[in-house]
This record gives sequence, C-alpha cells and structure tokens, in this order.
Amino acid sequence: MVRYPEHEIAAEPARTVMERLRDEDQSQRDQGLPVEARTRNVTAPTGLFLYSLVRTIQPGLIVEIGSSTAYSTIWMALAARAHGGRIVGSEILADRAAEANRNLLQAGVSEIATVETGDGSDIAAMHETIDMVFLDAEKDDYPRHFGNVVERVRPGGLILTDNVTSHDCRALLEMIRARDDVITQTIPFERGLEYTVTLQQS
Ligand SMILES: C[S@@+](CC[C@H](N)C(=O)[O-])C[C@H]1O[C@@H](n2cnc3c(N)ncnc32)[C@H](O)[C@@H]1O
Repeated sequence: MVRYPEHEIAAEPARTVMERLRDEDQSQRDQGLPVEARTRNVTAPTGLFLYSLVRTIQPGLIVEIGSSTAYSTIWMALAARAHGGRIVGSEILADRAAEANRNLLQAGVSEIATVETGDGSDIAAMHETIDMVFLDAEKDDYPRHFGNVVERVRPGGLILTDNVTSHDCRALLEMIRARDDVITQTIPFERGLEYTVTLQQS
C-alpha cells in the first residue's frame, strides 16, 4: 500500500502516473523479465522519503543519475515545486528518457523536471553548483559517478545513493569512507540509502 501525502497530492494527475509506473514495475518483476528490460523504479516508501527530504532541505538544483521512467523524478518534482527548485534527470537509454519526459508532462511537473538522454556524469558536468544528487544508475558505475559529481555539489549539499544494501556496493562505500571531505552514513531503509553530506573544502 502506497502512502501518499494525501493533503498535498491526493488530487494530483501525478498520482495516476505514479500508480501506473508502480504497476508496470511490479508486472515486469512478476513476469521475471531480465534486469535490463525492467524499469527498476524506487519503492514507493523510498519515493515518499525523497519527497520528504526535498521538502525539508529545499535544494535549488537536483541532479538525478539514472531516471528510468521518472518515477523517483516525479516524487522529487512534486516536492521541489513547493520551493521553486528544479531537477535535471538523466537516462542513458533514449527511448526510456523520452518515456520519462512524457510521464513528467502527464504528471504536470515538466516545468520543474526534465530527463536528458546520456550518461549521468556527463549531464552533471554541465552544472557548476548542484545542491543534491540522487544516484540510482548501474551499481558498478557508482564509484565513477560519485567521483565525478562530488566536486560539483556545494558544501552542505547531499548525495543520496540507492541500493547500497540490496546490492554489493562495497567499492563505492569504501571509496566514500576514505574521503575526509564528506560525512556519510548508510540508512538501512528499503533497499539501503547512502546519505552523504559534502563539507567545505579546506
Ligand atoms: C534503477 S533504474 C532508475 C530508477 C529511477 N530512479 C526511478 O526510481 O524511477 C536505473 C536506470 O539508470 C539507467 N542508466 C544506466 N547507466 C546510466 C548512466 N551512465 N547514466 C544515466 N542513466 C543510466 C538505466 O538505463 C536505468 O533506466
């Protein structure tokens, strides 16, 4: 059962899109489709966590690495709308990025969020100062993406990485923990979220 913040998005067109995306994701899992054929959206509780987080910290610019069909993007966009933030998502598969942008339009948040086609690190590199990164692409690429974006995240900014307990993310976690310019903790919630705050460079 999905818990929506009823007072805020009960009547949203976004809700219809989000429920369809969740159903599609579940159906792909039930059919046993291979991982590359699945949209692999975050869980609904993780979506609500993203929403709450964005409502709290009010990031001006969020970059998402790995947007798939924009389920997580929509959750963050609904929250960012309240304070005037924006989201640049990224998706390596062109067809999926096009679908993501159709979903953002249908959800009524296309002025707040867009999904660019291409490598998430390359898309992040087009932005000087990022307030928050949501990292949710291929797990083997996590160290590369983290290393590329960390310098672009403002001091006191956040890099949130999904799947750090559901998948083997030891290479990433060891890399992050070896740095003295971040504070990091694993939140054992849903598939595991690494919560990394960037510090002032000395
Ligand atoms: C786990 S899914 C993302 C789910 C999405 N965050 C959501 O909750 O709806 C990972 C996605 O990252 C995409 N991807 C893989 N490598 C990428 C890269 N280097 N840059 C951007 N996207 C990538 C995959 O095609 C896939 O759609």
